[in-house]
Amino acid sequence: MTDQKATNITWHQAQVNRQDRQKLLNQKGCVIWFTGLSGSGKSTLAHAVERQLYEQNHLTYVLDGDNIRHGLNKNLGFSPEDREENIRRIGEVAKLFTDAGVIAMTAFISPYRADRDKARALVEEGTFIEVFVDVSLETAEKRDPKGLYKKARAGEIKQFTGIDAPYEAPAHPEVVVDTDQQSLEESTQTVLDYLKEHKII
Ligand SMILES: Nc1ncnc2c1ncn2[C@@H]1O[C@H](COP(=O)(O)OP(=O)(O)O)[C@@H](O)[C@H]1O
Ligand SMILES: [Mg+2]
Repeated sequence: MTDQKATNITWHQAQVNRQDRQKLLNQKGCVIWFTGLSGSGKSTLAHAVERQLYEQNHLTYVLDGDNIRHGLNKNLGFSPEDREENIRRIGEVAKLFTDAGVIAMTAFISPYRADRDKARALVEEGTFIEVFVDVSLETAEKRDPKGLYKKARAGEIKQFTGIDAPYEAPAHPEVVVDTDQQSLEESTQTVLDYLKEHKII
């Protein structure tokens, strides 16, 4: 738990609330939290879902791993503590987007169940949609879109998820896609169907 440092701070109540913004946008703000091994397809899937939603006039925003590590989280590495802080900040940012009425998508390995559960606990029930992007390590390693598995196997990257750092699969994800078995189009449709069924869009 991160402690509150500042004192003498009070919450200022806004005059336009989340419900107003959701009405304006004709959607429900939510977090679609993609989790899975490196190379499982989180980024590919998040951007494909975003494209489809955009074409259906929905406002979205993808928070993607490496991009966030270039800015907001540039002072964090890959130790367990830094991974935890990385996910804590992403969870807080996703919460702000949700409050803005936006469909926020996060594409981070987010290997620890406890960290993802903390992100879930920040937002209203029903607005955290955990998508387990399942894939075998073998397939992810074969894809190796960024050449990272090769480096990890060579010992050039330490604490790499799936190789010498753990990945804890979600126990009760809202959605599971298996990118070993399903095409990108099928996985995209699975996510969109969930959003429709649960009246997010
Ligand atoms: N069914 C599939 N779903 C998603 N990606 C797939 C699939 N089959 C092959 N790929 C490829 O796997 C790679 C996944 O990479 P990426 O989306 O960057 O993964 P991550 O963000 O999880 O690290 C991409 O090169 C993508 O084209
Ligand atoms: Mg990615």
